[in-house]
Amino acid sequence: MNDKDKLSVLYSREEIASAIKSLAQEIKREYKDKKPILISILKGSFMFMADLVRELDFPLEVEFVRFSSYGREKKSSGEIKVIQGITFDVENRHVLIVDDIVDSGLTCNFLKKLLTDKKAASVKVCALSIKPSQHTMPVNIDYSGLVIPDKFVVGYGLDFNQKYRNLPDICILE
Ligand code: IMP
Ligand code: MG
Repeated sequence: MNDKDKLSVLYSREEIASAIKSLAQEIKREYKDKKPILISILKGSFMFMADLVRELDFPLEVEFVRFSSYGREKKSSGEIKVIQGITFDVENRHVLIVDDIVDSGLTCNFLKKLLTDKKAASVKVCALSIKPSQHTMPVNIDYSGLVIPDKFVVGYGLDFNQKYRNLPDICILE
């Protein structure tokens, strides 16, 4: 850890775990008989995905895509780099996008369109957290847990310059 960065806990590991339990209950109601594909957007949502699927006790598949839009900044560049795209079949499948945080909404809408174009039976979004102040386009989030103020956060998978993903709490980076 860098001594110069000031971190303060916004959501503790206990609060995160309890938000995930509630999300899992809602998701189960909708998907328990649909054998959905859960698609995690790497890298940020790796930890959320791992914890979420362990709360889901019905048949499902997991897949991953990897996008990058932040580079080394605290603001989205507005351009999405596809590092690993959709390498699996989604036609006629129910898919649930699993994202760590919806900020501008760009990433989520981009992936939704790709999946719709590939003829998924349904496409919904589950975001652990949302930053409503930063939505730059309408974005429909079907399941969301935590609300983040207009601050940059790290931890629980979220990074700044690839640092802090391993923190168990979600912290504000001053
Ligand atoms: P978008 O602006 O909604 O496209 O968000 C793109 C991605 O940027 C998110 O899925 C996160 O991985 C990352 N991101 C957005 N806000 C933050 C933040 O406050 N801290 C760390 N990563 C963030
Ligand atoms: Mg992300």
